[in-house]
Amino acid sequence: MSPFACVAALTLALASLSPAAAISVPGHNPGAAVVPSWAQFLRAHNDARSAVGLPPLKWNLTLELDAMQYANKLRIPCNLSPIPWAADGVYGRNLYWANGHHNATHAVVAWVGERRWYDHRANACAPGKTCGEYTQVVWNTTRELGCGRRTCRNGLDTVAVCEYFPPGNYVGVPPY
Ligand SMILES: *[C@@H]1O[C@H](CO)[C@@H](O)[C@H](O)[C@H]1NC(C)=O
Ligand SMILES: *[C@@H]1O[C@H](CO)[C@@H](O)[C@H](O)[C@H]1NC(C)=O
Ligand SMILES: *[C@@H]1O[C@H](CO)[C@@H](O)[C@H](O)[C@H]1NC(C)=O
Repeated sequence: MSPFACVAALTLALASLSPAAAISVPGHNPGAAVVPSWAQFLRAHNDARSAVGLPPLKWNLTLELDAMQYANKLRIPCNLSPIPWAADGVYGRNLYWANGHHNATHAVVAWVGERRWYDHRANACAPGKTCGEYTQVVWNTTRELGCGRRTCRNGLDTVAVCEYFPPGNYVGVPPY
């Protein structure tokens, strides 16, 4: 290696360690370690499950790949309309859309927020509300999870997709 190349490499290494060189991303705290999306998805699911005494889900790469492919399609219309999909009926699925840039935790928190409309004793949802995303998150017999999050093609909004195996939300069956 020439002395010049050696100095350049050293300079780059120092630059990447220097906080002054950190790139500022809106909404991102540069001092905090970045939690990867998959870990955010899994953690937020398992927090909601443990809150009602359910065992944690395991991350599954097959489900993750399928959910990513779904999210890649969903980012084009950028809405909540289901897309006909080969895994329909085989995997459970939750869809998320939100105006603006949002992380994976935010998506799961939105689903889990349906808990306020869900009456567990009656296994019923408040009139005019949706509880199905929450009940899939806390479906007792679901064991595996894989998800993907994408920025929409418009560059502004966010979609996310989680897939579940075995699937939940059988009509008339309580989640737990
Ligand atoms: C992931 O899920 C797929 C589909 O249900 C299943 O066939 C596969 O065995 C799972 N992989 C692991 C590592 O559990
Ligand atoms: C996700 O975004 C929320 C704001 O919506 C923020 O409070 C939280 O720290 C973020 N979580 C991670 C792991 O980045
Ligand atoms: C989940 O299912 C298992 C096996 O059927 C059962 O033993 C357990 O009590 C259930 N957990 C809850 C919180 O309903």
